[in-house]
Amino acid sequence: MPALGASHLILGIETSCDECSASVVRLSDKGSEGDVRVEALSVSTYSQITLHQPYGGVVPEVASRNHLETINPMIAKALQAAGVSARDLSALAVTSRPGLVGALLVGVTAAKAMAYARRLPLVPVHHLEGHATSLWLRPDGGPAARHFPLLLAIVSGGHTQLHVVKTPPSSWPEDFLASTRVGRSRDDAAGEAFDKTAKLLGYPYPGGVWIDRGSEGGDPRAFNLPRAMPQKDVLDFSFSGLKTAVALQVQALERAGGAGAVKARLPDLCASIQEAIVDALFSKMKLAAEKYGCKALALVGGVAANRRLRFRLEKEFPAPVFFPPAEYCTDNAAMIAAAGAYRFSQGRALTGTAALTLSARAAAEV
Ligand code: KG4
Ligand code: ZN
Repeated sequence: MPALGASHLILGIETSCDECSASVVRLSDKGSEGDVRVEALSVSTYSQITLHQPYGGVVPEVASRNHLETINPMIAKALQAAGVSARDLSALAVTSRPGLVGALLVGVTAAKAMAYARRLPLVPVHHLEGHATSLWLRPDGGPAARHFPLLLAIVSGGHTQLHVVKTPPSSWPEDFLASTRVGRSRDDAAGEAFDKTAKLLGYPYPGGVWIDRGSEGGDPRAFNLPRAMPQKDVLDFSFSGLKTAVALQVQALERAGGAGAVKARLPDLCASIQEAIVDALFSKMKLAAEKYGCKALALVGGVAANRRLRFRLEKEFPAPVFFPPAEYCTDNAAMIAAAGAYRFSQGRALTGTAALTLSARAAAEV
């Protein structure tokens, strides 16, 4: 472990999908009082969402080309907003996997160039470890020790995973994600299920928020949609059957009454789709919390914004529920810089030529 001294500044970079983001965090040693502490000093994010909207989803080539144009301005903005210069940095952190490989490569290449030019250690960060770490980016330091074991649910557009977390990030092992995972989706992610079914209903990308809004006044039991993996001993999810069921339902409505028939039933369709996804998430999270004796639940990723899911958790979940601060819920570099800072504090940074061999990887591998 590097001698921590008073504090270190770490610059984080995130370009795994359609957000180009840079952030500066401060890592401080709390000395004999206990754990190290990480706080975000700045975060600058450019969202490409409007560039991809006309295509109904993220176009990888468009994403990487845009990252190339925005990465340097984002880094400059993050340093300036934190009131520091590149000379003040102790280390760099960058998302190296998983994601769109061309998009990841822009961030990884920028980080490697900076590491080489400034002789800085470089920490490769798994994007999902970043999301998990975002829970600790709170003024109160995150879920306190009394809430361990903590059930962590990663529910995003690309991933749906359950993890049982027993310690704060400063002592997470190298294989944290693999060694804590107790459940995952076997096909589509929950966010993907929202997005694909929303597309079938004619909503723009990303569709989760449209289904959330469209469900107002709808009957969640109007359409009988499947809940996969009902077995009590299985903590995995499957959402691809839901997509097929919705496609068949939309076709049946169109056959009976044309496009107007689908429009007329939109609130019921949205509410039923949402309830099917929320039911699946809720039941597996409850089962996992019971099985592993979890003292709390924490949700990270875009789907955590869903109002019906939050309502059901608030009313029915048998343990306290935590969320990261709103600004760190969607993709951002503060969570990457923070995850990198904790790893740096454990002496897990790449230095010298090792940093230059870092490459981007599309696969999650956990
Ligand atoms: O974590 P995130 O911002 O990006 C990654 O996938 O990494 O998650 C985006 C996902 C999309 O699938 C989007 O439709 C979904 O989160 N989402 C929602 C809501 N807001 C965003 N899904 C349901 N209800 C919402 N209110
Ligand atoms: Zn993400």
